[in-house]
Amino acid sequence: MQQELGMMEKIVSLCKRRGFIFQSSEIYGGLASTWDYGPLGAELKRNLKEAWWRSNVYERDDIEGLDASILMHPFVWRASGHVSSFEDALVDCKGCKKRFKIEHVTGKSCPECGGELTEARQFNLMLKTHLGPVEDEGSLSYLRPETAQGIFVNFSNVVNSMRKKVPFGIAQVGKSFRNEVTTGNFTFRSREFEQMEIEFFVKPGTDEKWYLKWVDERFNWYQHLGIKKENLRKRAHAKDELAHYAKACTDIEYQFPFGWSELEGIANRTDFDLKQHMHLSTKDLQYFDDERGERYIPYVIEPSGGIDRSILAFLVDSYREEKVKDEKRVVLGLDKRLAPLKVAVLPLLRNRPELVKLAHDITDELKKIYRVMYDDTASIGRLYRRQDEIGTPFCLTVDVDSLTDHKVTVRDRDTMLQDRIGIDKVKEYFQERFCSV
Ligand code: GAP
Repeated sequence: MQQELGMMEKIVSLCKRRGFIFQSSEIYGGLASTWDYGPLGAELKRNLKEAWWRSNVYERDDIEGLDASILMHPFVWRASGHVSSFEDALVDCKGCKKRFKIEHVTGKSCPECGGELTEARQFNLMLKTHLGPVEDEGSLSYLRPETAQGIFVNFSNVVNSMRKKVPFGIAQVGKSFRNEVTTGNFTFRSREFEQMEIEFFVKPGTDEKWYLKWVDERFNWYQHLGIKKENLRKRAHAKDELAHYAKACTDIEYQFPFGWSELEGIANRTDFDLKQHMHLSTKDLQYFDDERGERYIPYVIEPSGGIDRSILAFLVDSYREEKVKDEKRVVLGLDKRLAPLKVAVLPLLRNRPELVKLAHDITDELKKIYRVMYDDTASIGRLYRRQDEIGTPFCLTVDVDSLTDHKVTVRDRDTMLQDRIGIDKVKEYFQERFCSV
């Protein structure tokens, strides 16, 4: 008898089977902790970033966007403390040669084979590279371990070019890299991943108020996009857990199948970063409040989320199995904004050229607005199941009657209810449904 798969196995399998996420370099046996987003995963990722950008940049007056480079001056990482402090303490097992983070080891012997362990050694998590033709100390550079520093070094550029007044924020989405020691749990901890970060600059003394505001703001954002409240929680860091730059930090955690784990951290970074960059670059990064005639280094509240972790949470949270007429129906109940495909156009007969043409014409019209798929490669029941499994909110079927009554049937993914609507009303119908979320 086939064993029932666990939730993570189901998600991993669906991701591979339906083109959401593949192992990187799979044909060579894969590269540990790196992942490729397939056709549907790429759409989901774009939609997630778009939703984040929309709510933080477009729908607010106090945040500007930025797209800084991954490679930065090596002094950036000295100033930020990543060269000296972005480290894990590791021990090696002399027997099985496995390496562990010190906090994962209790006692003095190897947690796997019981062998003797080496003394702990510090291991920097930044990925190194060399710029230019000569590989020496002078050409040493790093792949950024967080997008945040690209924002700090551009603080004055943004203030001056956009005439921003504190409080205001800078938002950025982009890749970060870490030579993680503990990996696993699918995309949860990867060596190459994407972050969505805001550095929100505030007047010192108002930082605690803004910190609490951002914790709530970000906690609510995941719920607005469909994550169930009972699967989210806030967890304030204890003093000894805080990163070297933070005065306070709250994690938004999600109840993954492997346990409660961090989705996003909201940190009060104080004036640590701007001060450090001022010191090392010798450039004045103070803010001048011309109304009050005050000059100061702003404090920073940083909501920092992971796109890959969010995607995993949205997949897990939206996955459900139902019984319909004694058959299993798998549904990804993704929010309409996130769904990779918005509409699937399905002709009921593929051997009727007029019907196929009509279905193609409707697809072509909808394509101008939405990501749409035309599919006639199976029976209608199977086509519906396929679309349910990838979270497509609507299926539009074109049947023989459509040729004479000029109507089509639209089926809702969640309720499975069907509406018969005029072809001339199709755009309006979807506009109402996609704009109402
Ligand atoms: N700028 C602050 C910062 O980078 P962090 O808590 O180290 O803080 C922020 O990272 C977020 O980035 C995390 O909450 C997580 O969602 C994501 N993240 C961090 N490391 C990751 C990894 N190895 N794989 C996937 N996502 C990661």
